[in-house]
Amino acid sequence: MQARHLNTTLSRILALSGVAALLLVAGCRQDMHNEPKMFPQRGSSFFADHRGARPQVVDTVARGQLHADSYFYTGLVKGPNGYMEERDLMPFPVTMTVLRRGQERYNLYCTPCHSRVGNGLGEIVMRGYKPAANFHDQVRLAQPVSHYFYVMTHGYGAMPDYSAQLTPADRWAVAAYIRALQYSQVASTSDVPAGVQVRTLKEIAQQEGLPASDAKPWTLPATAVWANQGAARTEGSPAMGPANTANPKIAIPVSKPAKKATK
Ligand code: HEC
Repeated sequence: MQARHLNTTLSRILALSGVAALLLVAGCRQDMHNEPKMFPQRGSSFFADHRGARPQVVDTVARGQLHADSYFYTGLVKGPNGYMEERDLMPFPVTMTVLRRGQERYNLYCTPCHSRVGNGLGEIVMRGYKPAANFHDQVRLAQPVSHYFYVMTHGYGAMPDYSAQLTPADRWAVAAYIRALQYSQVASTSDVPAGVQVRTLKEIAQQEGLPASDAKPWTLPATAVWANQGAARTEGSPAMGPANTANPKIAIPVSKPAKKATK
């Protein structure tokens, strides 16, 4: 009886001192706390200029940031006159996967203003925002595909840029999808490859079991809405040179910023 009592007391003392020892050891933990190191935005006596943040080493590129394919990242190439120019050219092949991605991103980021069909009458515009570009007008049809990339990258007039929301690959995918939207309205049967079947929206709706109202025709905005947009259409980035009028397909629709009719 006595021995057993002594035993439990002893083991309790042992357990308690064990916990106390553990706490002590934790308190003494130093690990790498005292190691010499740089603190963000704090000076350093280690370097001659006393700056903790080091300048980039000349002629070096951070891993994964070489961006050697400058057309992919800028949508511009150096033209014969020395100016950077847009091109009607995709930097990678357009597959159905690319178009689907472009459609998904377009529907997310562009429809609020340009609408799903790209006529420029999105919900925000209907509520008073400056009319967004109608991708089916003659000016937009003539613009090279990299112009859309450029506009998404840098913004355009009242349109904000989408470089933070869309990666370069996504911007190209959206540009390709805008082309698909345009072809949906201006293509002729001769554009359809042999063996490919063209279906009307009504047929597709029927096949997918959607209500016929989903396949209603949509309208382009009345010319009056766009009349005051004419001047703005020739405006653009001063970073780019005069328009290449020899080949309107690859011309930049842009030279000196023209005065806008409306703001
Ligand atoms: C907040 C509304 C808004 C959103 C969202 C928007 N745009 Fe625009 N976009 C505009 C407006 C407004 C204009 C006309 C700009 C002007 O004339 O000042 C325009 C013009 C354009 C033009 C024509 C530029 C030219 O040379 O005439 C292109 C191309 C374009 N947008 C592409 C896009 C794409 C692609 C997206 C989606 C990534 C997008 N926009 C999202 C408002 C928007």
